[in-house]
Amino acid sequence: MNVYDSHRMADVLAPLGYRPADTPEDADMIILNTCHIREKATDKVFSELGRLRVHMEEKKEKGGRTLMAVAGCVAQAEGDFIMKRAPYVDMVFGPQTYHELPQMVMKATGERVVNTEMPLESKFDHLPRGNDNQGVSAFLSVQEGCDKFCTFCVVPYTRGAEYSRTVNEILEESKVLVDAGAREITLLGQNVNGYHGIGKDGKTYGLGALIAILAEIDGVERIRYMTSHPRDMDQELIDAHKDIPELMPFLHLPIQSGSDKILKAMNRKHSADEYRDIIATTRKARPDMAFSSDFIVGFPGETEEDFEATMQMVRDVRYAFAYSFKYSPRPGTPAATMQMHIHDKVKTERLLRLQALLNEQQLAYNSQSVGKIMPVLFDRKGAKDGQLHGRTPYYQAIHVKGNDRLYGQIVNVRITKSHANSLTGEIEITEKILSA
Ligand code: 5AD
Ligand code: SF4
Repeated sequence: MNVYDSHRMADVLAPLGYRPADTPEDADMIILNTCHIREKATDKVFSELGRLRVHMEEKKEKGGRTLMAVAGCVAQAEGDFIMKRAPYVDMVFGPQTYHELPQMVMKATGERVVNTEMPLESKFDHLPRGNDNQGVSAFLSVQEGCDKFCTFCVVPYTRGAEYSRTVNEILEESKVLVDAGAREITLLGQNVNGYHGIGKDGKTYGLGALIAILAEIDGVERIRYMTSHPRDMDQELIDAHKDIPELMPFLHLPIQSGSDKILKAMNRKHSADEYRDIIATTRKARPDMAFSSDFIVGFPGETEEDFEATMQMVRDVRYAFAYSFKYSPRPGTPAATMQMHIHDKVKTERLLRLQALLNEQQLAYNSQSVGKIMPVLFDRKGAKDGQLHGRTPYYQAIHVKGNDRLYGQIVNVRITKSHANSLTGEIEITEKILSA
């Protein structure tokens, strides 16, 4: 979402004559777009600011000036603290204020600006439509904010209440992205499957219904969405995976823990078995579905038995991929003041065990792809010359030898090798290639 937001900031600043610079030395303004989800976020911002300050000083000596800004959720949560500790920062502003950037920039040339408002009207009404070229694979925010209040999470406080954009706004922005070259659109939201936007007919559309509409756009070849909450995984969305060929067979569905006791303490609003049922129903609709997840180990009160329930969940689901984190207390969240915090040594030890199992599953998942032929969307150049980078339908990264002409195309690839984080393949000679 921060990548998407950064694009939108660039859009909104373009009329003022700003365009992206290649290096900080070249920049007249530097915006750090920050994330506050886990620990050390604020420390990272200060160390980055320290590094960038050197450029500011050098420029100042030559008689120039660099505007320094901190955006995103760290700015939202720690705005005043940043202004106090880093007197050279000109602007601090939260995620709900990006449409006001031009005014803030004008103002900041004279004084320091802090803006952590959470206005009731949507920033989306005031941002220009995404007209930047995001390339073959583009992001599109359809929903923002969260009302779930998991007890470990800062998002409801930094991104604010849940808000869904209208179907028409999303449709228009999708067309702009396709005109700019996008073949794949990833719909974004902190709680993307909680989407409930108003259509032109005044009715409310869920994510499944929205995807059905977007799939009709000429040029939209692939649709993905991130991140979903188990509670909002409705039948309409599950059926969309069966009925809409453009919707890719990949679901990122965070579980966090496999223990009902911990899920309750986290206020996740679902049990371990309810999650298993969703996975089973989705697999029934789309047997080749690939799943990924987020895990937190060492939540307050997590016993060895609770942790074992998480390991069992992983064994039961068999993930293609997953993110896993040690619990980190976030100021202002209910879990931070809970009893029975877990010692860091125990957290580390559990994280290592969980990651060993997840890595094993990821390797197994990638290796079962070898020998198969899959349609791959080439979305950028590979690291080596004459090499292309693409994605399988299951979101696996793949490197293939091929001509640059194939960039932006979906081509059948035979998977020849699997690695920990990617695949290697060869282009299958088909009519499509010969005519490309
Ligand atoms: N500690 C550790 N991990 C966290 N996440 C969110 N908040 C915390 C926290 N306080 C993780 C969750 C979430 C992902 C985006 O970040 O797993 O799904
Ligand atoms: Fe945070 Fe996701 Fe829970 Fe919302 S649903 S509070 S974004 S972890």
